[in-house]
Formats: sequence, C-alpha cells, structure tokens
Amino acid sequence: MATKTLQQLIDEGVDGRHVLVRSDFNVPLDDNGNITDPGRIDASLPTLKALLDGGAKVIVMAHLGRPKGEVNPKFSLAPVAEALSERLGQFVALAGDVSGEDAHERANGLTEGEIMLVENVRFDPRETSKDEAERAQFAEELAALAADDGAFVSDGFGVVHRAQTSVYDVAKKLPAYAGFLVEKEVETLSKVKDVPEHPYVVVLGGSKVSDKLGVIEALAEKADKVIIGGGMCYTFLAAQGHNVQKSLLQEDMIDTCKELMAKYGEKLLLPVDVAAAPEFAKDAEKKIVGLDEIPEGWMGLDIGPETAKNYADAIKDSKTVFWNGPMGVFEFPNFADGTKAVADAMIAATKDNGSFTVVGGGDSAASVRLLGLDEDGFSHISTGGGASLELIEGKELPGVSVLSK
Ligand code: 3PG
Repeated sequence: MATKTLQQLIDEGVDGRHVLVRSDFNVPLDDNGNITDPGRIDASLPTLKALLDGGAKVIVMAHLGRPKGEVNPKFSLAPVAEALSERLGQFVALAGDVSGEDAHERANGLTEGEIMLVENVRFDPRETSKDEAERAQFAEELAALAADDGAFVSDGFGVVHRAQTSVYDVAKKLPAYAGFLVEKEVETLSKVKDVPEHPYVVVLGGSKVSDKLGVIEALAEKADKVIIGGGMCYTFLAAQGHNVQKSLLQEDMIDTCKELMAKYGEKLLLPVDVAAAPEFAKDAEKKIVGLDEIPEGWMGLDIGPETAKNYADAIKDSKTVFWNGPMGVFEFPNFADGTKAVADAMIAATKDNGSFTVVGGGDSAASVRLLGLDEDGFSHISTGGGASLELIEGKELPGVSVLSK
C-alpha cells in the first residue's frame, strides 16, 4: 500500500477531528535551557499550520534528549511549547504528563484549531522499550488521545529511524499519514540515494569513525570522492602513521581505517594540515601545522587551510554533494574555518555549477545557522542527522515504512 500523505488527510477533512502528530523537537539547549537552534521547530510549522487551518484538534508528541524513561525536568518540552506558541501566534498548552490524566483531559478539552503538546514521550520507559507488548500498550494509550475519529501524522523526520512507540507503534493504531516534512525529506534525500548526478562528493565529519563506518562503506561505493574531516579524521591520520598527539583517537579503529584507505585509495580525501590547539577551549591558541608537526600534548581541532582548499575544490566541481558532520569544533570561532569553507564551497557549487547540495542534519545543519550562512544557498538542509544518513545508506526507516503497512 502506498503511503498516504497529509494532503490526502486534509482533503478527507480534519475539521473537528483529533490529529496526533509526531514531530522531532529534539533541539539543542544551552545551560539555561534556552533553545540555541530552533531549526527543527521551524521545519514542523507547515504541517501544524495546515492542520490548524483545517480545524483539527492537534496533539503533538515529541522527545527531547535521552531521559531514559524517567521524568526529568531538565528534558521537559516547556521551552519548545513556548517557542511553538510564539511561532504559531497561538497558545500551545503543555500537558503535565505523556499519556496520563492531564494529557487526556486537555486533549478532550481541545476545540477546533487548538493545539497542545504532551510531555517528553521518553519520560515513559515504554517509548523506547524493546518489548513489543509494552510498546503496543503505550501506543494504545497515546492513540486514545485522538478519540474515535482521530488520525496520526508522522512528521518527525529526525526520528523515523527509531522503531519507538510514538514513531512506529502508534502508526498501527490509527489511520496514518506522512506529514509535509517527512514527505519532503524522503523525496529529496531519495534523489541523492537513488540517482546522484556525478561527480558525486560526500563530505563526512563527526567525532567517531565507528559511527560513520557503515556510511563510509555504503557511500564510497557510489560516490566519486569521500571527504573526511572532523574528530574522526585523526584516526585516519594515525593509520597513515602520523603522531596525532592528544587529538581525538579511536585506537581500536586504526586497522579499519587502514583497510578503508587500501580499499578506496584516492577516492578518500584526507587532511594535509590541521589547526591545532594546546587545549579544548574556546579561546585556545591556534597553530596551523603539517601532519607531523602537531606540538607535543596539543590536539587538532579543525582541518587546516590547505586541506580546506583541497576539499572546496572537489566540492566546487561536483554535481551532487551530501554533507554530514562538521570539519572541526565550529562552536569555537577560531576553529570554524574548515566547516565554513566546506559550507561556502557547497553554496558556490549550487549557484555556479547547478550542483544538488544537501546538508544532512544534526551538527552540520546547526553549523550553517550558527555561522550565519545563507540557508537558501543549499538545495536542501535536512532536519535528520542519523535518519538522513540511514536513508542515504539505503537502510529501511521503520517510521516511514510503517506508514505503508
Ligand atoms: C536526533 O536528534 O537525531 C533525533 O531526534 C533522534 O534522537 P536520538 O538519537 O536520541 O534517538
């Protein structure tokens, strides 16, 4: 069965009906609980507005962080409810629980065009339980919020790679539809997965080689170049025999990196210089050094300028670019140059070379906004980190496939 879309639900009519929506509001917060990158909240608005305009009674479910099945005020969705109220220009109530009495009372009390949030779904251990019966029971409670004529809209693209209750099991309990965001993300990212125009350049950063191993292998088969940066590049540099000093290193992955370099040869682009620092700190001193010149006890916190130029050159000549993971510690302005160079090259490739450029969520999407770059300069900025990688890798996304079951 083909996936039903939000447009179909709206055409069927939502006036007066309860619609349960799964959004991804897993946004970064600073120490004072302020949202530092509201990208995911903004991306959820088209779906929510369309439902509210249609007269639906909207109940939104989301998670924030990993509270491990316990109620923890640090992970409350309160800042999200506030940000959502501001953006929608209407009050968004936050229930005091997830599927308990308060959530049910508030859901029953909604009138046409009103919206509420239930508390962080991960406050309930059944959200992430491996026990199907537990998840099914929780899904029943959540679906009951939407009363008898309700519907479920899956719009949390960033979490569709998780077979969790509010993403997966709930979709089996109510008529289920793909929201505008999920539809757009799947359509756009599938283009990169299925029919990338060549030259196809993949840019990968992030701290751990082990997290990106599957992606490197899957994409190196299809791509013309795989650019490696971020914390994980130091394990590759160590595999080349360089002394990376105190840089991030996964010693148990050195042999794997050697194998990858032997298998993919020149397809893998690695740094030729780095920006090093004596400590991991915002105001740390910075020295641009060659690969064998990292001072004793120092660490690489960004790729160097020569590397950035090599990477930018490869990107500028591309017809397709997929980027996931920053090149360095972009949160420290002194060590943001490599990430900025990659992003600028993508913007240039989009404009001057007609390249299809995709930013694959997570930290890379946050860096585009934090560095004040032109978001419209890219073909697409995904809201999904892990989800976009898994889609591009060709893995099944449970939260998407369940919509056509
Ligand atoms: C994300 O931030 O990538 C998604 O919201 C999924 O969160 P998770 O990795 O904690 O499941």
